[in-house]
Amino acid sequence: MKVESVMITGANRGIGLEFVKQLSQLDEPPKYIFATYRSADSLKELNGIKESAQKTRIILIKMDVTSLEEIEVAKQIVEETVGDRGLNLLINNAGAVKMVTFPNLTTENLEFHYKINTEGPILVTQMMLPCLEKAASLQSGGMSVSRAAILNMTSLAGSIKNAGFEFTQDLHVPGYKISKAALNMAMRVIGALVKDKGILVVMMCPGWVKTDMGGRENAQLEPEESIAAMIKTLSTLDESSHACYMDRLGNPYPF
Ligand SMILES: NC(=O)c1ccc[n+]([C@@H]2O[C@H](COP(=O)([O-])OP(=O)(O)OC[C@H]3O[C@@H](n4cnc5c(N)ncnc54)[C@H](OP(=O)(O)O)[C@@H]3O)[C@@H](O)[C@H]2O)c1
Repeated sequence: MKVESVMITGANRGIGLEFVKQLSQLDEPPKYIFATYRSADSLKELNGIKESAQKTRIILIKMDVTSLEEIEVAKQIVEETVGDRGLNLLINNAGAVKMVTFPNLTTENLEFHYKINTEGPILVTQMMLPCLEKAASLQSGGMSVSRAAILNMTSLAGSIKNAGFEFTQDLHVPGYKISKAALNMAMRVIGALVKDKGILVVMMCPGWVKTDMGGRENAQLEPEESIAAMIKTLSTLDESSHACYMDRLGNPYPF
């Protein structure tokens, strides 16, 4: 996959961190990776990757996806760095889960998921849109991740059709499931609205991955395997995948 600039939210651990690692190790890696983090407490691994990157400039940016002010500052940093080249790929990865089961749901729990998993990616996408448009305008023809794209790290847990059928363990985190279904809708809408600008939008599930969120014992995939598969899939996507919901291998999934 050849892409000049990438922004990854929630890049200090888990899936986001592995994306930074693998993208910076590509044969032709991005020139810039904007790796955002929420708190400076856990930057050791990210700093290590930054220091060992040979051809990529990894720029760390503090950005809580629920803070408009921090998203605005991040946008300014990206704009100042990429200039007229724009931003090619935004990976809306930051996400969170807190288990509270029906009928004990609280407004606090529902809002927690909505703010981070749904509202966050929407606000980040809106703010970064001019940078993505700039990158898209430099190339004509079809859609691709090399041109301009938004990858949304969703979950198969967000499928309305399969809720309670395919996999039932996640019924214990309704707040999370609802927020990912809403994310899918948000990005379906955004996808329709940016289609003419040549910006590819996809919603992808990484699989059940051994991270803090996925859990180390029951999850099926090592982060290395999941992210390698997603990077491979990303390189194959074109307009036929626009605004689609898929697994890490690119197989379509029902909304
Ligand atoms: N792991 C799985 O099996 C799995 C399956 C399906 C989908 N996903 C999705 O994949 C994405 C990454 O998951 P993961 O497994 O890597 O989770 P993780 O290990 O828990 O990491 C979550 C990342 O999101 C960041 N984050 C949380 N709230 C944030 C906020 N308000 N602002 C900015 N960053 C915030 C965290 O930052 P802090 O370190 O500051 O908390 C951390 O960097 C999520 O969107 C998740 O829903 C994961």
